[in-house]
Amino acid sequence: MRTDPAVPRYTEDIYSTAAILDPYPHYAEMRALGPVVWLTRQKVHAITRYAECKATLLDDGTFVSGDGVALNPVANRLGRGTTLHSDGDEHTQKRSVLAHRLTPKAVRKMASAVQDKAEQIVDAAMTQQCIDGVDDLATALPTSIVPDLVGWPEDGRDELLRWAGATFDALGPMNRHAVTATRAASEMMAYSRRVVRERSVLPGSMGADVLAAADEGRIERSQCPALMIDYLGPSLDTTIGAISGALHLFATHPDQWQAIREDPSLIPNAVNEVVRYESPIRAFSRRAVRQETIGDVVIPRGARVLVLYASANRDPREWHDPDSFDITRDASRQLGFGSGVHGCAGQGLARLEASTILRVLSERVERIELTGRPSRVVNNVIHRFDRLPLRLVAAERRSS
Ligand code: HEM
Repeated sequence: MRTDPAVPRYTEDIYSTAAILDPYPHYAEMRALGPVVWLTRQKVHAITRYAECKATLLDDGTFVSGDGVALNPVANRLGRGTTLHSDGDEHTQKRSVLAHRLTPKAVRKMASAVQDKAEQIVDAAMTQQCIDGVDDLATALPTSIVPDLVGWPEDGRDELLRWAGATFDALGPMNRHAVTATRAASEMMAYSRRVVRERSVLPGSMGADVLAAADEGRIERSQCPALMIDYLGPSLDTTIGAISGALHLFATHPDQWQAIREDPSLIPNAVNEVVRYESPIRAFSRRAVRQETIGDVVIPRGARVLVLYASANRDPREWHDPDSFDITRDASRQLGFGSGVHGCAGQGLARLEASTILRVLSERVERIELTGRPSRVVNNVIHRFDRLPLRLVAAERRSS
């Protein structure tokens, strides 16, 4: 396939370990080159700016997901049958099998269970001198909610975080990280096939809905293993990324922590700002099924384009002072949950989890202090902390 000579080239590897750990200088350089740049390492067109990323996501008739959203053919083959990797009527039908579980009404019904879990988790963390914000807070909440919702059997939960992280890592280019991850992602799929064969999902769960849909002929039985993973895979690292990112941001911006303590109605927008700032998923790709022009670059039919949500969320053409964290800006149009038909199906739950834990913390914690150097995971797709040493300084109990 010939690339348009007008497309600027970017020769750095944005999937090297160094770029994964500190991607933002790369995004800034790429955005300065143009709305579309040719990544010479990955041989894809990367969409770098907010307006063009959003337009690409909304044009799902031209930029399709059915041929995969990964940057390598192995993951695109493994992902077949999932909601994420489908288009048109097939996508609508797959999404409808489970989406009713995550409507605003369904999510509201989960609020008191999420509140109880968040209180237990925060109370336990506050008995310790020092905590790891990732393990003790950010991971504890989603791992206590979503596996039950999906109905994942107890004996498959020990490996869940490793498998789910690998499922994302495997969606990058076929580099060293993706090769290692593909093995673990395949283990998760093999386990899911066994769950479907043995019908070992928890009764009343999303997994039970998937089996019922196959029993009633609404979906093919062969699609069940992928659909089981569909909501579990994307629900853990992403939410862990948002919550741990929030803890880090509030530890380093104590004035904004005080602001939400004084006015908890700021919390929903603070969650948007955290997702804008952190972008727990950095990018997914699409395949162009016809020739299209973005900016002044011709994208040939059949080309793969990479939509950089994380770069769009820091584009100065869209955001005033984009590299500053500001919970008072209107961040509701951030692209961290994607946009259009594939926009995150679980964002209501993710918002509920993140805002509940922040509210519970804000009622009990005066200050969040960093007590050591945080580190980030090395993953092709997920941007999140791996370790976040913190001290929670208790607030005086307010009389109600
Ligand atoms: C802060 C947390 C989260 C972030 C940042 C996030 C981000 C995203 C993004 C960017 C997409 C768009 C994919 C695309 O454009 O192709 C997406 C899709 C999706 N997400 Fe999330 N997600 C989060 C939490 C969750 C949770 C908690 C669940 C499930 C309970 C979930 C389930 C899904 C599913 C099923 C899709 C595929 C939707 C489709 O293709 O129609 N996500 N997510």
